[in-house]
Amino acid sequence: MRRPLIAGNWKMNCLQADGRQLAQDVASYYKNQHNPAFDMLIAPPFTLLTACAQQVAGSGVLLSAQDCSPFDKGAHTGDVSPVMIKDLGAQTTILGHSERRTDHKETSAQVCEKAQAALAASLFVIICVGETLAQRENGQTLEVIAQQVQESLPQETTAENTVIAYEPVWAIGTGKTPTTAEVEEVHAFIREQIQKRFGAETADNIRILYGGSVKPSNAQELLSLPDVDGALIGGASLKAADFTAIAETVK
Ligand code: 13P
Repeated sequence: MRRPLIAGNWKMNCLQADGRQLAQDVASYYKNQHNPAFDMLIAPPFTLLTACAQQVAGSGVLLSAQDCSPFDKGAHTGDVSPVMIKDLGAQTTILGHSERRTDHKETSAQVCEKAQAALAASLFVIICVGETLAQRENGQTLEVIAQQVQESLPQETTAENTVIAYEPVWAIGTGKTPTTAEVEEVHAFIREQIQKRFGAETADNIRILYGGSVKPSNAQELLSLPDVDGALIGGASLKAADFTAIAETVK
């Protein structure tokens, strides 16, 4: 069975003191679980990875970056390589978040190159896909998702080294969520795409997270859908009480 993953994407939030506190609160919650049947992960900004690595050490909470360079080192001012991320004690990085696709014009082909570099550095990857409101209204959702999945996932993809996050762009930070039927439709469709390219075993075992306005009050119904294997949470991951309340729904 797929182990649920409750992941917090802090985005560009938190300074040292509140970041440390938040990481510590999540770590102590998770450490107090007896044989937890779910994974928990935080993705702080680069500036807090070292501090958060210290806070979560020994707790079992996974640590993630929010992006990485497709290169290991060299003349790439402002970028951070997957080797550096690994060196700080993180296990994974988010890639292809819609905010990067929008703010930095990242293409799926670039996401794929970053994923290959991250996998080569022994990180696992969390690859985000999702349609805009205009694309959904034009009936293009599945077509857009198929293309993003096809182009963003490298050939090296396995169920162990990759997590997919379905994040409808119009649901991020808006308080709006798709219906449970719409979420399940896209998740099942993604699994079908994975099956066609990587085979049934990978499709059965790969985790597909839902992201976009997940909060304690809607987590239960979203996370109990058959093809939803956890959540990628933005705003609600910045409050330990909300983040842990969401985790409680998968126990
Ligand atoms: P919100 O939970 O704030 O909608 O953000 C979702 C997200 O983008 C997580 O990566």
